[in-house]
Amino acid sequence: MPEASAVRSFQDSVLGESLSISQITLAHFRNYDALRLQVGGAPVVLTGTNGSGKTNLVEAISLLVPGRGLRRSALSDLQNRTTTEPWAVAIELRTEVGALRIGTGRDPAAEETESERRLVHIDGKPARSQNILAEHIAMAWITPDMDRLLAEGASTRRKFLDRLVYSFDPAHGGRVQRYEKAMRERLRLLREGGIDSVWLSALENEMAQTAVAIAAARRHMIERLRSAIAEGGDVFPRAEIEVRGAAEDMLKDKPALLVEDALREAFARCRSSDAAHGTCATGAHRSDLRVVHRAKNCPADLCSTGEQKSLLIALMLAYVRLLTEQRRVTPLFLLDDIAAHLDDFRRASLFDEIRALGAQAWFTGTDRESFAHLAPHAQMFQVENGAIV
Ligand SMILES: Nc1ncnc2c1ncn2[C@@H]1O[C@H](COP(=O)(O)OP(=O)(O)OP(=O)(O)O)[C@@H](O)[C@H]1O
Ligand SMILES: [Mg+2]
Repeated sequence: MPEASAVRSFQDSVLGESLSISQITLAHFRNYDALRLQVGGAPVVLTGTNGSGKTNLVEAISLLVPGRGLRRSALSDLQNRTTTEPWAVAIELRTEVGALRIGTGRDPAAEETESERRLVHIDGKPARSQNILAEHIAMAWITPDMDRLLAEGASTRRKFLDRLVYSFDPAHGGRVQRYEKAMRERLRLLREGGIDSVWLSALENEMAQTAVAIAAARRHMIERLRSAIAEGGDVFPRAEIEVRGAAEDMLKDKPALLVEDALREAFARCRSSDAAHGTCATGAHRSDLRVVHRAKNCPADLCSTGEQKSLLIALMLAYVRLLTEQRRVTPLFLLDDIAAHLDDFRRASLFDEIRALGAQAWFTGTDRESFAHLAPHAQMFQVENGAIV
């Protein structure tokens, strides 16, 4: 079971029950020149005017898990534009057996090869790859960019779902990469018109096998999320969720090996039309995460902006509960500009729920008043022009 290895990593590492940052240091990161901020385990609220650097600070934290952070920015965009000194982000985590220092930053050596790479340090030692970060730290976030998640096309939702799977099953990322590589290679062959059917069949075989593994992992994630949603309160709407796709649909009532066969046949059948259209008509890259507002029996894309935001919050709260239960660690929770679109009652309920989860949540917002309900229990900071004042 992939989960077993993920859980073991957490147990092997020195994590306590609830992850929290005790100190964060930024150097030459976006609009920050140098920042050192010490915080307790309670929720943190960052307020300040537009452009002061609130999102930049939570983005810096989001780089301490594998990936490109909550804005999915290119690494070069993170570099403070007024200096060539490489950017760096470091945190100190509180754990049961003392502090754990984790850092990441621009790798100046990578630029000579024109590739983008960031360095990762764990307790002062360089890590082989950023994937190691997932063993030490778990994180969830909600950002304004995600508002469009439920309204837009399948591809954003599929990537979102894959990201959720990745925290439970670190091998998932590799599977998706292998699938996409085989798919691109197959399309290239088809476009070139060379009929190397042995090579094509080998690629289609790789696609069929990885597609089934990807689909099974997505379905497993959906099942776990459904039970976590069922445990949620009544303030945020319950979502009916489902993953739909060629392999996912067949896996409902067919064993994996038969689904693999069916996919191989489908890929072979589509060769000439795929060559003509330059795309692959079926496969794991077409799946969608369908979300329905249960009480209204309304597909999420037809819900109001506020309802979509609430559905998304409910989904992420369920995900955080799931991480807490199954990985035995309460993740860091980043909530960028969350107050927008939420009425007073829902906002207060969200604060209460996050306090009950015991997560060190990092909230950002332009006005302090939106956080009045949370303020007595939170650490309030004012951000101004790339500094905490
Ligand atoms: N690489 C960079 N170097 C210097 N400044 C940057 C860089 N990237 C972004 N900035 C600046 O950082 C500023 C702060 O951005 P940030 O998104 O953190 O603001 P914010 O406080 O979240 O504002 P809002 O309330 O509008 O969301 C922006 O003015 C932006 O121009
Ligand atoms: Mg912002």
